[in-house]
Amino acid sequence: MGLGRLSDGLAPTPPMGWNSWNRFKGNVDERLVIESAEAMVASGMRDAGYRYVVVDDGWMAPQRDRDGDLVADPARFPRGIAAVADRVHALGLGFGIYTDAGTNTCMGLPASLGYEFRDARRFAEWGVDYLKVDWCHTSGMGPRTLYAKWAMAVHATRRPIVLSICEWGRARPWEWAGSIGHLWRTTWDIQPDWPSVMAILDRQADLHRFSGPDHWNDPDMLEVGNGELTIDESRAHFALWAILAAPLMAGNDLRDMPDEVRGAITAPEIIAIDQDPLGRQGRRVQSKDACEVWLRELAGGSRVVAALNRGTASREIAVTFGELGIDDRRVRVRDLWERADRSTAAGEILADTAPHSATVLRLVPY
Ligand code: GAL
Repeated sequence: MGLGRLSDGLAPTPPMGWNSWNRFKGNVDERLVIESAEAMVASGMRDAGYRYVVVDDGWMAPQRDRDGDLVADPARFPRGIAAVADRVHALGLGFGIYTDAGTNTCMGLPASLGYEFRDARRFAEWGVDYLKVDWCHTSGMGPRTLYAKWAMAVHATRRPIVLSICEWGRARPWEWAGSIGHLWRTTWDIQPDWPSVMAILDRQADLHRFSGPDHWNDPDMLEVGNGELTIDESRAHFALWAILAAPLMAGNDLRDMPDEVRGAITAPEIIAIDQDPLGRQGRRVQSKDACEVWLRELAGGSRVVAALNRGTASREIAVTFGELGIDDRRVRVRDLWERADRSTAAGEILADTAPHSATVLRLVPY
C-alpha cells in the first residue's frame, strides 16, 4: 500500500453491477437481492458484463450481537447474509455489501467506526466481493486516514474485495484515493432527473487525469430507467458515464424493466466504450450554447465522441478534427446507439442531436 495507484487487478475496467439504493432506498431484503440477481442473468445483463449485486444501506439489525459483530436484520434477511451471497455466487455473479466509516450509517443503523478489521473479516467470511464504505456520522474524522485503515482491514482478510469509497468528493478523493480503493465517489447523490445528471456531469470535466485501471472516478450509480428520466435522457446518461469510464452500477428495478431500458443498459457497443482496456477517461472538448462534445480515446487508436444537446430544441452539433486531435485524414464513423456505420468523414463531424440526448459516434482511422 504505497503512494502509487492500486494495481491489484481487481478492477482493470470500471466495475459493473447493480445496487439497491437508487430505486429501493432502505427497503431491502433477501427476496429483492436474490430476485435482482436472477433478473441480472435472465435479462442478459450478466452476459453483457454486469457482475456485482450490491445491497446498500438498510440490511443491518439495529444492534450488533453480543460478540460485537454486525448482523443482518432477521426480518429482512432471515437466513443471514452468507446464504444470500451463496445464491448470488451460484448464479455466476459477485456479491457486494455496504457499511459506513462512522458511528452510524446514513439511515442511522450501526456502522463500522472502531470495528473496521472485525467487520471486514466478517464480510469476507460471508463471501463479500465488493464493499461500499459510506461517510455519514464521521464528524472530526479524516477520510484519507480512515479509508486507508479500511484498505488495510480489507487486505488483511486476504479475500479479493473491490473497495468503493463514498465520501461524496468532499476531500478531493481523486488526489489520494487511487492508492486506497478501486473507485471513489466524486459528487453528492445522483437523483433520477436530468438537472441532477447534468450537474454531476459538469463536476467530472476536470477529473480525467486521476482515473485508470484499478482506480476509477465514480460519478455515482445509474438512474437509467428511474424517476423522471425519458429514454433519451437515460441513454445520454448511460453513454456519458461510459465516456467517463464510470463504474456502471444499475440502480433500477431489474425485475420489471421495459424493453427500451433493458436495451439501453445492455447496449454492447456503449458498454465496450466503458470497458475499453486502455482505461482512459474521456473529457469535454467543446461547450457552447447548451451543446457539448465529449471525447474518449480508446485502445487501438480509435476515438469515441458524444455530442450532447442539453437544450430544448434539436441541434446540429459540429466538431472539427482539430478539436478531436485527429490528423487531417479520413475516418470511418459508426453510430453506437444505432449500431450502424455511417458514411466516412474528413475534417469535421456533424451530429444531428435531439434535445436532452447524446449522439454517440466511434471514429476509426483508416
Ligand atoms: C449516501 C450514499 C448513497 C447511499 C446512501 C445510503 O451517503 O451517497 O449512495 O449509499 O448514503 O444511506
